[in-house]
Amino acid sequence: MSRSVSSDVILQPAPALTWRTIGGILDFYVFLGPDPASVIQQYVEVIGYPAMPIYWALGYHLCRWGYNSSDSTWETVKSMRNYGIPQDVQWNDIDYMEHFLDFTFDSAKFATLPDLVKDLHAHDQRYVMILDPGISSSQPEGSYWPFDEGLRRDIFIKDAEGKTLIGTVWPGLTAYPDFSNDVTHEWWYDNLKRFHDKVPFDGVWIDMNEPSNFLDGSTEGCPSNSLENPPYTPGILGGLLRAKTVCATAQQKLSIHYNVHSLYGLMEAKASASALKRIVAKKPFVISRSTFPSQGMYSGHWLGDNRSQWKDLYTSIAGILTFNLLGIPLVGADICGFSEEPQEELCVRWTQLGAFYPFTRNHNTINMRDPTAFSPLARTAMKQALLLRYSLFPLLYTLFHHAHVHGHTVARPIMFEFPKDIKTYGIDKQFLWGKSLLVTPVLDPGMDYVEGYFPEGLWYDYYTGEAVRSKGEELRLDAPLDKINLHLREGSVTPTQAPNLTLWVSSGQPLHLVSALSDDGSASGDLFWDDGESIDTYENNQYAYIVFNVSQNVMTSEVLRTHEEATYITVETAAFYGVKQKPSRVLVNSQDATFTYRANQVLTVADLGLNLSQNFTISWM
Ligand code: GLC
Repeated sequence: MSRSVSSDVILQPAPALTWRTIGGILDFYVFLGPDPASVIQQYVEVIGYPAMPIYWALGYHLCRWGYNSSDSTWETVKSMRNYGIPQDVQWNDIDYMEHFLDFTFDSAKFATLPDLVKDLHAHDQRYVMILDPGISSSQPEGSYWPFDEGLRRDIFIKDAEGKTLIGTVWPGLTAYPDFSNDVTHEWWYDNLKRFHDKVPFDGVWIDMNEPSNFLDGSTEGCPSNSLENPPYTPGILGGLLRAKTVCATAQQKLSIHYNVHSLYGLMEAKASASALKRIVAKKPFVISRSTFPSQGMYSGHWLGDNRSQWKDLYTSIAGILTFNLLGIPLVGADICGFSEEPQEELCVRWTQLGAFYPFTRNHNTINMRDPTAFSPLARTAMKQALLLRYSLFPLLYTLFHHAHVHGHTVARPIMFEFPKDIKTYGIDKQFLWGKSLLVTPVLDPGMDYVEGYFPEGLWYDYYTGEAVRSKGEELRLDAPLDKINLHLREGSVTPTQAPNLTLWVSSGQPLHLVSALSDDGSASGDLFWDDGESIDTYENNQYAYIVFNVSQNVMTSEVLRTHEEATYITVETAAFYGVKQKPSRVLVNSQDATFTYRANQVLTVADLGLNLSQNFTISWM
């Protein structure tokens, strides 16, 4: 059940929930699972599967409030390139605008913005800028098209008397577009299109869309009636329905605001995604602060304003996992923290964890530091973490495919894979990518080791292939400042790729397959591959899908569906963790091949040059 009407939910010790809502129609769904992952799949089937993100959504995003000019934004991009730190996307916050007016850019300080965007594109990088829904209502008539045209088309939220409701956001007095009205979607598209003609942005960041208001209600207050002051008010910010938003009695096309308040960000995301599809004719990239069930179909999410504190680093994990359960897998927290000066050690650890957020963005407020501003040691550690993420792109992309098609989580609580192991239930300091990649970050200062729980079974150190056999216990792991611990679960095949400074699915970067064998020598995995940006590639059968299996000393790669994009990719190396005896021969498609075998039971076959679009076998004896 989800409510667009104000509600509160209280967890009782029983265990039980008390749910209080102040209106609406109550639809109840019961998802029977039986296990947690199936409950989520069933839930996501109802609310809508998350969109498959455009490939660069999975790259590193850099943002800050207060670059203050396009030139200084550009300097940051250039120093990222100079330091060889991967970056796919550069963002701008509200300071790019003229007086914080949506769909404008500061003609003095951001004069070179169009050139910056061209330069980003020339380097296979992308540009995203913020848009707030509040549209300035106090510009001289005829000077600000978004407001004038909005009035003409009658798309703004109205007060109880039918006048345009005015609140206050960054630009001062503002009107709020009513995204429950289709006419508003068309107006939003026109605005985006007109701006795109000047600044060819690639995606949009929609903020302040709760909708947020620096006033309570409106410049004229709100009527005093039972909608504004219901007999019971859920435990919300400010204790009033209108606190820091518009009046409950405000009128929208669909209904009074009272009934649709929580849908604002969802409807804005829907309008933004569909406008972007028309403008760039690619998978739309939208990140929203406000969300509602079904949001994943249109946008990703960041967890909002956090602080540069160790406790915020820690709690971000629960936030990321929660949104994965809510069908919005493309989620991240502001890496290194939004407000307060980030300390170097914290920022390094945060970048390591952030490299495993499904959505990886460093964003900070005015006067704070970004990764280029730290010591060479810290910079190198951050760069390594991001290169690691980039090398795992084939796995991450495939996990998003499964989220899109089956409602799977991408970042996954350990208990989802080990529902019978009650020791996993409370774990909020570690998580999995998919079913097999275990992430154990350092979350405290001054540490050179970390303790993590390993469910019973065989695990392998991702980097070395060293086996770790667990009885279902806490293990102590080395964790110097430049390392984040990663382990592979037995029975998995993980596709990885030689990293570049940007992600580009057709870049031709070779693949490296890592098979983590179970005790009986078996493993399996898969790979989804397409052109990375066309709309509905899965729905239109424009993709490749490959299944890897290992059993009895034979790995097979079976191409269940092929696509032109897969023909540009070669599988260059294959590593097998847990090969108990040194092989005497290795055959690749029945031809003898050279190989290495290390004492830690890792077999590696290099220089394979196998085309991903063709079946192959690798066997050893
Ligand atoms: C809000 C956003 C934050 C942004 C700021 C200025 O606080 O959550 O990310 O930087 O507004 O636009």
